[in-house]
Amino acid sequence: MFNWGKIFKKSNKNIWQKLKLEKAGKISILAPMLDVTDKPFRQIVADLGAPDIFFTEFVSVDGLCSEGGRERLYLMLKKTKHEKKNKNLVFQLFGSDPDKFFQAIKIIKKFDPAGIDINTGCPDKAVIKQGSGSALINDPERFKKIFLASKKAAGNIPMSIKTRIGFNQIDLDWIKFLLKLKPQALIVHLRTRKEMSKVPAHWELAEQINKMREKISPETVLIGNGDIESKKEGEEKLESSGFDGYMVGRGIFYNPALFEGGNFDSFLVEKKIEVMFSHLDLFEEEFYKKDRWVKTFALMKKFFKIYINGFGGAKTLRTKLMEEKTISGVKKICQDFLENNV
Ligand SMILES: Cc1cc2nc3c(=O)[nH]c(=O)nc-3n(C[C@H](O)[C@H](O)[C@H](O)COP(=O)(O)O)c2cc1C
Repeated sequence: MFNWGKIFKKSNKNIWQKLKLEKAGKISILAPMLDVTDKPFRQIVADLGAPDIFFTEFVSVDGLCSEGGRERLYLMLKKTKHEKKNKNLVFQLFGSDPDKFFQAIKIIKKFDPAGIDINTGCPDKAVIKQGSGSALINDPERFKKIFLASKKAAGNIPMSIKTRIGFNQIDLDWIKFLLKLKPQALIVHLRTRKEMSKVPAHWELAEQINKMREKISPETVLIGNGDIESKKEGEEKLESSGFDGYMVGRGIFYNPALFEGGNFDSFLVEKKIEVMFSHLDLFEEEFYKKDRWVKTFALMKKFFKIYINGFGGAKTLRTKLMEEKTISGVKKICQDFLENNV
């Protein structure tokens, strides 16, 4: 006899529970990075070797609650082909007002996110000044209200929290506090706000944090973040700490193929440029609307270093590309380079 109850229960699991069951100790995630992990770049990463979960860049709940600002922010919530198929895009939100979180989540639920994450780690001064991001580490009671309001609005959509290990100093009581709220997942960037990203991440604390999780909220999926540059390194860190997953931020700049264990550096120059052309096309498709850029093309330039790297003449080529203002111009320079140098 089929156990329908069991089958139904299994298929009804949210993404965090499902991955914990299927891939315990090996969950991989691309970190949210403003003006980097937009829809075009996430599609490129998916094509080169997808992680299990993607995050949007952080999106302001104040903006989502304002009728004027909302439409522009919706662009940040659009899913790639891969994310539509795999239902693995988590929306990340920031703000400081519990009511705005409640309203914003009610509004964006229609886009069917795999999860909703609250940013409590952003070190940016302007964000902190609004009482958002890492400022919430210093205001746990406000954060509790934000979390409970968000959970209420989210309903069946699982809630996660991305945080740091303290504001000015390491403060594991903050992590304990968050675990008591029993989020579906907790992503810990193993640095304080004061440390920004300037010191090595404190992976030495991971085992202790895992023990806290086991004691306070064993059902919370625990993700570690900080300085991971390869799949192998990520999985080793998980093995030694007991964490369920790892999140990669800046490592993706050095190797956008890292999630499937690939090495972008070893790709042929033709292939590197082909990937960059795909990225340019996706960027144009997404952000060039009605004869104007809705996101400045200058932002695309920070990606040149990823693709135009690790081959003879790369530096000179990059310098030329940085001066170009159009996609067709960038392509032409690259085509000339391939004809004359490869
Ligand atoms: C350019 C950039 C933008 C970022 N934007 C966000 C963001 O929108 N939300 C967030 O939670 N963290 C953001 N972060 C932090 C990363 O998600 C990650 O926590 C941090 O880079 C540490 O991981 P890493 O050592 O692997 O880079 C950003 C980091 C960078 C470098």
